[in-house]
Amino acid sequence: MKALVYGGPGQRAWESVPDPSIVEPTDAVVRIDSSTICGTDLHILKGDVPEVEPGTILGHEAVGTVVEVGAAVTNVKPGDRVLVSCITSCGRCRFCKEGRYGLCTGGGGWIFGHLINGLQAEYARVPFADTSVYKVPEELSDEQVLFLADILPTAYEVGVLAGRVEPGDTVAVVGAGPIGLAALMTAQLHSPGRLVALDLDSSRLEKAFEFGADVAIDNGSEDPVARVMELTGGLGADVAIEAVGVPETFELCAELIRPGGRVANVGVHGHPATLHLEKLWIRDVLITTGLVDTTTTPKLLKLIESGRLDPTPFATHRFGLGETEQAYDVFGAAAESHALKVVLAAPGTGHELLERLEVPVTA
Ligand SMILES: NC(=O)c1ccc[n+]([C@@H]2O[C@H](COP(=O)([O-])OP(=O)(O)OC[C@H]3O[C@@H](n4cnc5c(N)ncnc54)[C@H](O)[C@@H]3O)[C@@H](O)[C@H]2O)c1
Ligand SMILES: [Zn+2]
Ligand SMILES: [Zn+2]
Repeated sequence: MKALVYGGPGQRAWESVPDPSIVEPTDAVVRIDSSTICGTDLHILKGDVPEVEPGTILGHEAVGTVVEVGAAVTNVKPGDRVLVSCITSCGRCRFCKEGRYGLCTGGGGWIFGHLINGLQAEYARVPFADTSVYKVPEELSDEQVLFLADILPTAYEVGVLAGRVEPGDTVAVVGAGPIGLAALMTAQLHSPGRLVALDLDSSRLEKAFEFGADVAIDNGSEDPVARVMELTGGLGADVAIEAVGVPETFELCAELIRPGGRVANVGVHGHPATLHLEKLWIRDVLITTGLVDTTTTPKLLKLIESGRLDPTPFATHRFGLGETEQAYDVFGAAAESHALKVVLAAPGTGHELLERLEVPVTA
């Protein structure tokens, strides 16, 4: 099969690799029908995630069709259409039993395109299939559910839920990339009073309005703290969601919140940020961090099914799976291409492995 293989910092190629197969009885092999690229893949290519070994297939977000299952798999069968999420759950460890799959110590957590081969490929081996994939309702398209593989549960769980967004709250979202925009979208499930988006890029701020922002602040050209204080009668935001991952934006979030407010950090940080305890200690603030668990995926899926949540506006560019390299170029140049998420779609027919296994190809 073909896959997008990481060759070390700065190197990636769509190349031939061996077909995956069942290794553990809890595995499934999934034909990838749709996949996408994450900002984290770009971090890997920059060399920021050194545990990713050269030779690893990248990608941790996909919708696919099960083609083969191990002897112990009972929840899914060949032919089932499934969402393969960025987080895998062993279902047995202490953290999985608490629903904290991101912290799995039994071989799950964030493994695709990180510790094992990922999902930007024609096929993938999916460990712990019973406890890790989600069946996709027939009437939903791949594009309707694909972004449940990462950005929506991440923004909702690590941003909105960790930040305890309540009806009426003023929520400041710092960073209007896919994660920040998904935070704006899912914060609306909790009826906030006002959504404020902050970014340095005017086209991202324009997008923020489409995703539900009431106010957009370019924190490169105006004083964001003064603007938020003005909007909130001098108190500050109830919740600030950090969706960038640099020290300045974390520190800005801590300045934007009111006494008793909450900072929910979603960004992945590569450098230390300063925690101004000398100012914060007396303000009763809550600061949270986290890796997504994906426990809300079934709930978000129900909202998409009922038409109350529509993540399809995230799909700004579409490519064939075989054009994954070009898709990386476009996604990596988001400032010029205005890409939010790229959809990588497999051609509908001609899947040799499916034919070999005599599995009906669903359109
Ligand atoms: N915690 C988790 O589980 C998890 C999961 C996925 C992604 N992430 C992280 O979330 C963060 C956001 O992801 P993304 O894909 O949206 O990233 P992105 O790079 O596409 O978007 C970041 C946005 O922040 C803006 N920005 C940069 N510097 C800024 C500044 N100083 N002030 C205001 N805005 C600024 C950029 O213009 C951009 O629009 C990343 O750090 C990513 O690694 C975390
Ligand atoms: Zn991701
Ligand atoms: Zn586990």
